[in-house]
Amino acid sequence: MAKFSPPRGMRDFYPEDMKLRNHIFDAWRLASTASGFEQYDACVVESLELLQRKAGEEIVNQIYAFEDKSGRQLALRPEMPPTLARMIVARQGALQFPVKWFTIAQCFRYERMTRGRKREHYQWNLDIIDENSVSAEAEIIYTAINALRLMNIPDNAYRVRISNRTLLSELLSSLGIAQEFHPAIFMALDKKGKLPREEIEKLMLAENLDAEACSAAFDLMDITSLEDAAEIAGDDSPAVASLRKLFELLNDYGVAEQAVFDISVIRGLAYYTGIVFEAFDTKGEFRAIFGGGRYDGLLSAIGGKPASAVGMGFGDVVIGEIIEELKIEATSQNNLIAIGYMTDDERTMATRLASKLRAEGKSVTLQTRPSRAKAFFSFASARAAKAVYIGPDDRNSGKAFIKDLNTREEEMITLT
Ligand code: HAM
Repeated sequence: MAKFSPPRGMRDFYPEDMKLRNHIFDAWRLASTASGFEQYDACVVESLELLQRKAGEEIVNQIYAFEDKSGRQLALRPEMPPTLARMIVARQGALQFPVKWFTIAQCFRYERMTRGRKREHYQWNLDIIDENSVSAEAEIIYTAINALRLMNIPDNAYRVRISNRTLLSELLSSLGIAQEFHPAIFMALDKKGKLPREEIEKLMLAENLDAEACSAAFDLMDITSLEDAAEIAGDDSPAVASLRKLFELLNDYGVAEQAVFDISVIRGLAYYTGIVFEAFDTKGEFRAIFGGGRYDGLLSAIGGKPASAVGMGFGDVVIGEIIEELKIEATSQNNLIAIGYMTDDERTMATRLASKLRAEGKSVTLQTRPSRAKAFFSFASARAAKAVYIGPDDRNSGKAFIKDLNTREEEMITLT
């Protein structure tokens, strides 16, 4: 057995693992650029102070933190929005808003390891900064759905569940629960499905709420439709109006079927201020595929001018498991040409052919040493689309065959 393996929860990617990863990343990139998001990137190490917000959020307790040799308190980022907010604030006077940015960022969280949860994952982030209208939410949800389509995930395999924290706030207020208690109630109710009802009510009781209010707040999670919520919140509720508008826009994008209202979507991060959403597989077997929402206070919280923001994070782990479960083939265009040769005497010819094909823009893997035909074709079949094998006869005739490894068809090429 090997002496070392990756630290618990961290992954290695062997070349064969990159096929699935690239299938996911390619769809993320294509969907981003198809919707006009601009790519950005940032350092993985952040100052701990930027990442630490109010205690109570699970993510804050999961940060990999350390001190550098000069005593700076640093950390591996667990998510992107604080970094994004820092970058936007640094150029807030110069950027043209609304900004639409995307990134694929490796994030680290010291999580309890379960299915779909690792201590490191890649997360595609889409964010729109300084757009107050619900068009921003619609554009982001549509783009995430487009990525799922580009991965060949069927439309009926998942649902995006959407709610609005402002709506939940209105409903809590209608029960007579004061605004100051709402953030703690959000964090408690977000645990629904993960903790039993008594535990969640205990969390709320700890905030000095009376037992009747806790129970009534929990019962709000039984609301099943936006219309039922509208009956309590009132038909003139701005939160209801924004949700109605969002569903209308998603219909215009042609993705209405995949979007549903779900009052129990709250999200575990404290910074969300409005619409929140999470996508799950329809069978309910996996953790969330992606999640996000509106976070209008984060820029000002880190010293910037107030600006609205909407974003989402979509990890590679859960979707990778779903792709495998659905037996979706990780397609990647393979145009690689393998070139091999029998003896040292053919090395020059093989090298020149490789160089010529590469200059034409083709991808070529050139063997670094002579090999027998059998060994070469076994190497080539495992990774290339076409192969050329040069032996002494080919060297003498100045001609060889390029073989299509799928169709077995051969085409004569000149070597000189
Ligand atoms: P999040 O819900 O914590 O949101 O993570 C977003 C997605 O990242 C999850 O749905 C899941 O796919 C993936 N993910 C998170 N943690 C792990 C883990 N330990 N292992 C594997 N996958 C994981 C956020 O992070 C927000 N910052 C998203 C956002 C961006 N909101 C606005 N902009």
